Amino acid sequence: MATRKLLLLHGDGIGPETMAEVEKFIAYMNEAHATGFETEEGLVGGAAYDAHGKSISEADMAKAMAADAVLFGAVGGPKWDGVPYEVRPEAGLLRLRKDMELFANLRPAICYPALASASSLRQDVVEGLDILIVRELTGGVYFGEPKEIIDLGNGQKRAIDTQVYDSYEIERIAGVAFELARTRSNRVTSMEKRNVMKSGVLWNEVVTQTHQDRYQDVELDHMLADAGGMQLVRWPKQFDVIVTDNLFGDMLSDVAAMLTGSLGMLPSASFGAPDEKTGSRKALYEPVHGSAPDIAGQGKANPIAMLASFAMCLRYSFQMVEAADHLEKAIANVLDRGVRTADIAPDGVAPVSTVEMGDTVLAEFRALMG
Ligand code: IPM
Ligand code: MG
Repeated sequence: MATRKLLLLHGDGIGPETMAEVEKFIAYMNEAHATGFETEEGLVGGAAYDAHGKSISEADMAKAMAADAVLFGAVGGPKWDGVPYEVRPEAGLLRLRKDMELFANLRPAICYPALASASSLRQDVVEGLDILIVRELTGGVYFGEPKEIIDLGNGQKRAIDTQVYDSYEIERIAGVAFELARTRSNRVTSMEKRNVMKSGVLWNEVVTQTHQDRYQDVELDHMLADAGGMQLVRWPKQFDVIVTDNLFGDMLSDVAAMLTGSLGMLPSASFGAPDEKTGSRKALYEPVHGSAPDIAGQGKANPIAMLASFAMCLRYSFQMVEAADHLEKAIANVLDRGVRTADIAPDGVAPVSTVEMGDTVLAEFRALMG
């Protein structure tokens, strides 16, 4: 029996309660389908800070490096507002991305038919939406140096962040976007700010060159990132794959998430380069939503984004395509039947709890798995 090594990092806020629902799926699959998942756990974010004074320990980093895939809940919350910047909860996530070299972040925004009316946009604008944001994840202003606040000595301070991209970083993320486009509607829109930023000029140049060299069969458009944001809320269905840098990708993916009705619905996957020997990629799967401290521990959180992240893990890290399809179908079926957590419940519909939603999707999944 194959073993499949998973590291579970529950994190903070609603992370633990949504991850607990995924754990039920893992247990079921091992029992009923001999899938051989071996799970380890670690601490990240505020939970790690409380235990070790760091946002992730070296031991847990080592577990992440050794795992076939990492499942990540969420980090952060007001409890840690005052902790030093270097060890704030988010630093644990950034360290994982950087050390595992997870440069490609896939953020699909799919509007489930049953939720088209839950979006803040008109139903016809979002119905049937299926776009994919490919966000560069290990470069740009998130990691560029210098990054500091200096005292100018005259009563003023100066804050500096550095937006920096090398051409190889742009080329490899563009390659990921073009490859994925070929499996979808074959269109890529690249977004940057070449009208203001040198990094935007280079981004545009390298994406164009990569297209020219290797992907002429894919349709390529360029958009300034601000106009792209506007187009995303005007008529999002014009897009197929959007490729953009770390910071623009952070913002545009939150916009795209909201098109689908709720931030509680969207999964994401982050990948490194394929290993030269085995071809396998380091991978981390996480919901796009954050730790939602305002509802943490109340059993109200929507576990769907976490479950859909696990579906991406089955599909991409373990090539368990059928199980992934069934899990995504189970989520859609349960939504079709009108089962709703509080974030997606319309007026007059009594919301179910996190555990009830997890159990309902699991029952549907079991039925589909046969
Ligand atoms: C995200 C989050 C993170 C980011 C935070 C938690 C550091 O907003 O994954 O979109 O900015 O990348
Ligand atoms: Mg974000």
